[in-house]
Amino acid sequence: MCFKASLRDILTTNPDKIYTGSSSFQLQTGKMIFKVIILVLAFFAGKSFAATDKVICYYASWGATREGNGKFVPEDIDANLCTHVNYAFVGLNDDCTLAVLDEENDINQGGLKRVSALKEINPNLKVLLSVGGATAGAGAFESAGNDPAKLDAMAQSAIEFFETYGYDGLDVDWEYPQDKATFNKLLSGLKAAFEPKGYLLTVAVNSIPGEVGGYDIPEMTKVLDLINVMTYDFHAMWGGFTAENSPLYGGDNESDWQRENRNADAAIRYWLDGGAEAEKVAIGIAFYGHSFILSDPNKHGLNDQTVGPGEPGPYTVNLGSLGYNEICEFHSNGTVVFMDDMKVPYLYEGDFWIGYDNEESVTAKVQYAKEKNLAGVFIWSIETDDMHEFCGEKNALLKTINKEIKN
Ligand SMILES: *[C@@H]1O[C@H](CO)[C@@H](O)[C@H](O)[C@H]1NC(C)=O
Ligand SMILES: *[C@@H]1O[C@H](CO)[C@@H](O)[C@H](O)[C@H]1NC(C)=O
Repeated sequence: MCFKASLRDILTTNPDKIYTGSSSFQLQTGKMIFKVIILVLAFFAGKSFAATDKVICYYASWGATREGNGKFVPEDIDANLCTHVNYAFVGLNDDCTLAVLDEENDINQGGLKRVSALKEINPNLKVLLSVGGATAGAGAFESAGNDPAKLDAMAQSAIEFFETYGYDGLDVDWEYPQDKATFNKLLSGLKAAFEPKGYLLTVAVNSIPGEVGGYDIPEMTKVLDLINVMTYDFHAMWGGFTAENSPLYGGDNESDWQRENRNADAAIRYWLDGGAEAEKVAIGIAFYGHSFILSDPNKHGLNDQTVGPGEPGPYTVNLGSLGYNEICEFHSNGTVVFMDDMKVPYLYEGDFWIGYDNEESVTAKVQYAKEKNLAGVFIWSIETDDMHEFCGEKNALLKTINKEIKN
């Protein structure tokens, strides 16, 4: 309170009055110096308060079509625990207009509108359409980047979607652009169309340095509102050995190459060193893990031999992967080991092994985002949080993230 009063004082002081009466000159100078110090402190305090505050929640809309405990409908999103909700996914038609991918879920069941209706609960919430995704073809993105007429069609169609369904912008999930010029043209064309209407433009990008050629980081950071760095899937079933999905740091026993290429810190440093503004970068947090079947249940450490990927979960139905909800529901008797070097846990139970994220590791990632003054964190994806309280508190991961970001 005191602090605010001094600030107001500074802003409302009439400079003419300070120098009236030479007898009080010294006192006034002293006060001035004091006020300048306060102003400088306020500036830096303001900066660090403004920095890391985004919680960008990707919602895999097909969660609404899952069975039993896996079902997660738009109203299950806690609108006060997200600053942004990204609706995944819409696609692109051959003419580069946006395409609804699941007419029944997105339109007939009202998925798109029910997500934007969350703004009635949290008026500050931004909702974005995510276009693309891991299974979407790159062809239409490429032709929009290379053909101004198609780019215009894409932009106009996106704006129509925003207006029809109540959205605030577009999140481009092209996995992955191979050509910098094409991607730049796509983004700057969309930006030019969106900016006059105040719509947001964000991207989800490959985390791994050197594996894709299509990012001109300084140009991207100029036109984008947020860059979501997908800091997960660093290791999975293809290795033949147990390994972590989303280590924050390299492991003590890893090679130099692994330490520079296979963890979230390496990826974020790659983007920052490449010219991305920290306040536009969000670090990705995975609400899932990669699972394995151990060759020998007695050899259950990191980097131990496996016979293959773990069985698909009943809800997410992905070979070699389980949502945090499935880990909590089906492996609550497992043994959890937290890796102090990598800042992530793994869990084993019989011949089952999974490297994943828990409350402790998501806390470390939020702390990291704050250390680096990033925009915040994003989550892939919120419908696999522990909604049914098998591990503890309802939606404990998202709650933990919010607690730590406001801490
Ligand atoms: C790292 O290597 C040392 C020496 O081989 C071993 O004792 C230790 O268990 C390893 N740590 C991990 C986490 O694999
Ligand atoms: C955990 O172990 C208890 C006692 O053996 C058993 O009743 C329960 O079903 C187990 N839970 C899971 C999820 O496997």
